[in-house]
Amino acid sequence: MRQAGRFLPEYRRVRQKHGVLAICKDPELCAKVTAMPVELLGVDAAIMFADIMLPIEGMGVKLTIEEGIGPVIEEPIRDRRSASNLEKLDPAADVPFVLDAIRLVKKLLDGRVPLIGFSGAPFTIASYLIEGRPTRDFDKVKSLMYRDPKTWHVLMEKLADSMSAYLQAQIGAGVDAVQLFDSWVGCLSPQDYRNYVLPYSQLILKNLARSGVPRIHFGTGTSNFLEDMKEAGGDVFSVDWRIPIDVAWRRLGYDVAVQGNLDPAAMLADIGQLKSFAADILRRVGGRSGHIFNLGHGMLPNASAEAVAELVKFIHESSRLSDLR
Ligand code: CP3
Repeated sequence: MRQAGRFLPEYRRVRQKHGVLAICKDPELCAKVTAMPVELLGVDAAIMFADIMLPIEGMGVKLTIEEGIGPVIEEPIRDRRSASNLEKLDPAADVPFVLDAIRLVKKLLDGRVPLIGFSGAPFTIASYLIEGRPTRDFDKVKSLMYRDPKTWHVLMEKLADSMSAYLQAQIGAGVDAVQLFDSWVGCLSPQDYRNYVLPYSQLILKNLARSGVPRIHFGTGTSNFLEDMKEAGGDVFSVDWRIPIDVAWRRLGYDVAVQGNLDPAAMLADIGQLKSFAADILRRVGGRSGHIFNLGHGMLPNASAEAVAELVKFIHESSRLSDLR
């Protein structure tokens, strides 16, 4: 999950000297930061330290990641010309540092836990490219989608194509699973999701099916169209806290795995409360196989590292395989 590391004092120390993108472009430093949550918290998987906007630089877009804001685009894409000018990503030439970092992390982890690679989904990346910065209303995105559907489709097709190549390259470099982050897709109506988004996420997920690597499909605010998200594809679906996990899983079907559900704000409650939120999720899941315990979205920067460590310990103790059998 995004910012798994950002509340860790050890990570903050690295960040005092280097920006997010600079860390991503230094394979040794990137590998060290990627392994931090595994070493310090004992989580069961590592996620590559990167950002969904990192490969977009490789497509010719100038951007920065601003403290406390997120990605900011120098020249937002709002017309056919700028959408058509986007270059197709060539991972080996444009983001060699990501592939080098993957190989280093695999060595560092030495088989202890799996490594998750990821990319942004076309809708979530498009929303940054069009709005130019994080937004609450998504008005510029929706206005382009409704008023200029041809440009919308050009943009989404380019993103789907490049993100497929990017994830394939990460698999080639050794990641054990891939996650497609459609963080902001919950701002859409179910009909708009089907018309403007589903075909492009589906293209990526279909392209990856042949690799045999598990595909995690992430979204937030998606309780109204979980079935459509399933149609887009994936082996694991992430759900947020706006729906009980057992209800979500029943709707998705037991032929897929689920993750997520804990409200990141639960990390701000006292430890007793936090454990009871976590226990409720485990009770609803009832030991069914195919459950990955996770937050419904990224860690808040003010989560306490101690609370996170307690949570990891609690989950390990309460979900030992031998107890569930
Ligand atoms: O958890 C990790 O440390 C893994 C690395 C990771 C980052 N970004 C580094 C980062 C991952 C998996 C991401 C994905 C990402 N980036 C997503 C998808 C997942 C999600 O959480 O929805 C999105 C939407 C982004 C875009 C982005 N980058 C946002 C919204 C922000 C937050 C700004 C803020 O501070 O609230 C960023 C910045 C960013 N990317 C940080 C990190 C560790 C922030 C902390 C820092 O400045 O060091």
